[in-house]
Amino acid sequence: MNNIIVLVSTIVLFGIQNFKSDITASFDKTNIDFPIVTNQTSGQPAPSFKDVEPLLQKYTCIVCHTEAKKLIGPSYKDIAKRNYTDARILQLIYKPEPSNWPDYPAPMVPMTNVKKVDGLKIAAWINSLN
Ligand code: HEC
Repeated sequence: MNNIIVLVSTIVLFGIQNFKSDITASFDKTNIDFPIVTNQTSGQPAPSFKDVEPLLQKYTCIVCHTEAKKLIGPSYKDIAKRNYTDARILQLIYKPEPSNWPDYPAPMVPMTNVKKVDGLKIAAWINSLN
């Protein structure tokens, strides 16, 4: 008999606790949703390396550029220091101006196959390295 009482009260207590955590969970959710909505309306945050890595591979940028080290081309960090706008970076991807980087013996090939949306995403990431 005692066992049954313990069992019943355990079930009841467990039920109340679950109910409480349901309430807390839905309360937390409304708190989390709010900033996400504001972010979407007030502009996208800069893409992360994870976001652009597949693009840098797809368009072979990684063959000549790394984030922080000079390779065949300047590092993205050095490019970020030039403070170009995203649109200007896109323009330079399509039509490189080797005179901007006189220390580099080989000019960059024009990469006109880069989709505008992808180029701007890469540009936003480069500028976030500043
Ligand atoms: C074959 C090597 C090579 C590849 C592939 C390459 N780059 Fe470059 N990149 C260079 C070199 C060399 C320079 C510096 C000389 C120049 O601008 O021509 C450069 C310069 C740049 C600059 C600076 C332009 C300026 O005038 O300041 C940007 C931005 C850039 N690259 C982005 C990219 C992106 C994004 C990709 C991929 C879509 C890419 N590059 C692919 C070699 C390359």
